Amino acid sequence: MTDDSIRKRIEKLRTEVARHDELYHRRARPEISDLDYDRMKSELAKLEAAHPEFAAPDSPTARVGDDRTEGFATYRHRQPMLSLDNTYSEAELREFHGRLVKLLGREDFSYTVEPKIDGLAVSLTYENGRLVRAVTRGNGVEGDDVTVNARHVHGLLEKLGGRTWPEVVEIRGELYMTLEQFRRINRQREEEGLAQFANPRNLAAGSIKLLDPEEARSRRLEIVTYGLGFCEPAGAAGGTQSDFHSKLRQWGLPVTARFQTLRGIDAIWSEIQQLDKLRHEFAYGTDGAVVKLDSLALQLEAGFTSKAPRWAIAYKFEPERAETRLNAITIQVGRTGVLTPVAELEPVVLAGTTVSRATLHNKAEIARKDIRVGDWVEVEKAGEVIPAVIGVILKRRSPDCRPYRYPKKCPACGTDAVQNEGEVALRCPNPACPVQVRRRVQHYASRACVDIEGLGEAMVDTLVEKGWVNDIPDLYRLRREDLLTLGKSVGKSTDNLLAAIDASKRAELWRFIHGLGITHVGQAAAKDLATRFRGLRELAEARMEDFLGGKKESLIEGIGETMALAIVGHFAVARNRRVVEELLGLGISPEAPASRAATGGRFSGLTFVLTGTLPSLTREEATAMIEGAGGRASGSVSKKTSYVLAGEEAGSKLEKARTLGVPVIDEAEFRRLIAG
Ligand code: IVH
Repeated sequence: MTDDSIRKRIEKLRTEVARHDELYHRRARPEISDLDYDRMKSELAKLEAAHPEFAAPDSPTARVGDDRTEGFATYRHRQPMLSLDNTYSEAELREFHGRLVKLLGREDFSYTVEPKIDGLAVSLTYENGRLVRAVTRGNGVEGDDVTVNARHVHGLLEKLGGRTWPEVVEIRGELYMTLEQFRRINRQREEEGLAQFANPRNLAAGSIKLLDPEEARSRRLEIVTYGLGFCEPAGAAGGTQSDFHSKLRQWGLPVTARFQTLRGIDAIWSEIQQLDKLRHEFAYGTDGAVVKLDSLALQLEAGFTSKAPRWAIAYKFEPERAETRLNAITIQVGRTGVLTPVAELEPVVLAGTTVSRATLHNKAEIARKDIRVGDWVEVEKAGEVIPAVIGVILKRRSPDCRPYRYPKKCPACGTDAVQNEGEVALRCPNPACPVQVRRRVQHYASRACVDIEGLGEAMVDTLVEKGWVNDIPDLYRLRREDLLTLGKSVGKSTDNLLAAIDASKRAELWRFIHGLGITHVGQAAAKDLATRFRGLRELAEARMEDFLGGKKESLIEGIGETMALAIVGHFAVARNRRVVEELLGLGISPEAPASRAATGGRFSGLTFVLTGTLPSLTREEATAMIEGAGGRASGSVSKKTSYVLAGEEAGSKLEKARTLGVPVIDEAEFRRLIAG
């Protein structure tokens, strides 16, 4: 290569790496895999090393990624948060060890090995055992203050357990989302026609930066801790990485699922291979193993380069990829009519399982990647979750392969698909679409809704196919003699099913609200609505002003504008209103829990509003206690409110209570009241 072409290549790589840094760290929407990113970055680093004449202080190789975003105060770490050097092979790992042996002039030291969690780094500052701050890595020197959202992270402690704590300690850890939670959120988004999150890491990264703490809380993030930053007095957190690990455990903080202290690079290598086998069983995604020098004194001696410690290294596991043929693209119809394209693949083994389907997300994705039926595609288990089609292998494309024409009609009922403003998905707008009916009834009967035992997905399929069920209310009109003709269900199971259906009439109000399948209204929102509306009819008749105040502020906790619009829009459809009327006509009139509980009890006739974070009770626990004592928990403060139960960081509701002269109590007082 000529000097000029090398310079050009370096510049191109710098721009690309910087662009992908931005996508990954700030926007949590990477376009390429970690492996491709690392390859690109290492090509750049090699070129820069060989051509110091083209060095630039602002090259992305000289800095760590930056996650700082608008809307957050920044905070300077007392000790910088650096990143780790990555390796991909046993040889590179042995080189790392060789360098340390040379640097320290000995080889009798131990390492610790633990999984590398694929989340995002945070630094927690504890002063005398109390959490004072949670900050993201940011640019390594200063990060975003995410304390408000972090307080709701599972496993994160407000106050450390044990008896002794350093005066000040920065504890480094990784925020993550479990695969289960990730799938749940994506399923819901799919139903709602919103873009899917690519993997749990991106979703976790986006969630901690949500400006709405309630929304952030509903995402359920978790934490694992593994590292020590600043500590005062020095040494108070132990003299080795293993000591510190024990301290973290004593304090009650979650630590990595497996942690080993080992000597010699052979032992390290075999532990890494062991981890590669075990990692699929961990609750979080892992993308490698982290090897650290155990002794903190030796860590100090080894020191740092400008961006990473010399005493630690990350060994990255290869993401599993495979090439296969795309046989067809099918369109799946969701409960609310969302049309999702699915890749039907020639079966291929990936990460130990046979993969024959992968999501293609939406129409825009297919166009962006120019995916065509008949193409050879590369599939990857993204974050080891759902297989995704990474892209097309153009070299293998046959010349007669035509661009994919996205269908304009619903494959199930032939209705013209529509695209709502602000949504990426196409939808089938026909509520009588047989697939939607099936999914709607399945959802209604599911455990998360009215929970009808014995009415699984297959049974619903049969009932719809037979033409006995065309919508939810038909479940309550099923006839014993019809069911008996199904053969497989002998008398007893038919009777059990009918009894279970009948029993569902007495389910709580929120279960019905959730069961109606209103777009955007999940279980939590259904519960919020049930605290405010006395019954289904009241909800169906609600208008925007029942949800939002003059300045669009929400009047019902947890229900914002998007949801309000979805609810009002849902009942604007005649068919949906009819479902409610029919249910009521069939004798189903669930009442709000509060009105049912309002008889007797110490809190009978009293209305409470919860706001802020209570020291030891969750919102659900406090609500249950209020209702258990015959009171009502409401979402908004009015003159009729008896008490506002306020915790830390209570906001506008507290002010409103003061203006209206409503008594404000704390948890201790609440407990006294309830105890009498
Ligand atoms: S130790 C000074 N241990 O990986 C280096 N990091 O690529 C301290 N990570 O910034 C890092 N799991 O966000 C360490 N068990 C683990 C980890 C871990 C995940 C993250 C961390 C770090 C990044 C480096």
